[in-house]
Amino acid sequence: MDHSKKGMRIGILTAGGDCPGINAAIRGVGKTAILEYGMEVIGISSGFLGLINKETIPLGEDDLSGILTHGGTILGTSREKPFKKKAGNELLFDKPQLIKKHYEELGLHALVCIGGNGTQRTASLLAEEGLNVIGIPKTIDNDVWGTEITFGFDSALWIATESIDRLHSTANSHKRIMVIEVMGHHAGWLALYSGVAGGGDVILLPEIPFDEKAVCDYMISRANRKKPYSIVVVAEGIVHPENKSAAQHIGEMIKKNTGLETRETILGYIQRGGSPSPMDRILATRYGSSAVEMIAQEKFGGMMAYVGGNIVEVPLSEVGEKLKTVPAGFSLIEKARKMEISFGDQ
Ligand code: F6P
Repeated sequence: MDHSKKGMRIGILTAGGDCPGINAAIRGVGKTAILEYGMEVIGISSGFLGLINKETIPLGEDDLSGILTHGGTILGTSREKPFKKKAGNELLFDKPQLIKKHYEELGLHALVCIGGNGTQRTASLLAEEGLNVIGIPKTIDNDVWGTEITFGFDSALWIATESIDRLHSTANSHKRIMVIEVMGHHAGWLALYSGVAGGGDVILLPEIPFDEKAVCDYMISRANRKKPYSIVVVAEGIVHPENKSAAQHIGEMIKKNTGLETRETILGYIQRGGSPSPMDRILATRYGSSAVEMIAQEKFGGMMAYVGGNIVEVPLSEVGEKLKTVPAGFSLIEKARKMEISFGDQ
């Protein structure tokens, strides 16, 4: 125990879309801060909105008990972006200045921001404004730049994979093509991993432009080879048809061009809910605890990242709002191609 940091007060907020593991991270930050360093911890309600409105939630040791396994976030979240100016709209008040004012009034020595790309960008801008900020990356999309993995991804991967597993038996019974849509607007990590883990036959990612004819030809060749059914896993961001989801678009397209019976499933928010996987609990705990070690050493302006098995710190200014997408020639894609999994591009 090192109570030399007694009297230091830190704030925690959670912003952007929720995911399993956020409460584990809050607990990792809170317990390490309180029990190891004797710091005081304050929860900020609903992301950056809570700093704008000065709405806090007490976070004593007791408040951190029993939350490790819970989904969602006990602090609430929002997609508030305080630095975003709406074109043509006069700002009624300067949100960043309000945040600075409330940060000082609350007597905070540091602020831990748990979130995805947008959150890390805001955290970086607040650091430029002089606040002592540390970022922790979370999202089921696994697309935060600078870290190999975000917590939330593993839990979502379990849910998506289990769903694909379940589609196999009904697809086989009816000899149908099943199209399943998982989340991911710009990054296809979840589609790629769940598609491979679930034994998908076609996987469509935002990073790989696909040819509709190539997808249909592959479905027909499978049917001709007496493969009784096919599973097509698509990321939500592969196409943007009006009033339709990606899965509906692909399902209808296959039906029209091949005559094969096709059904669609959109997994939606199920992917983001519920208890975190053991790996996400551990990752979130490591991030949370490491963030407090940074604060204790008064090293600010970084985001905790997982690199080569270690938790390290990368400068928030480098993370920005950059996206970590699936790179061309990614090894898992190459392995999948050798097993006749189609990415719709050849
Ligand atoms: O931020 C992760 C994510 O789950 C994306 O995969 C998804 O497209 C988006 O959030 C949905 O956002 P919202 O909760 O605002 O509908």
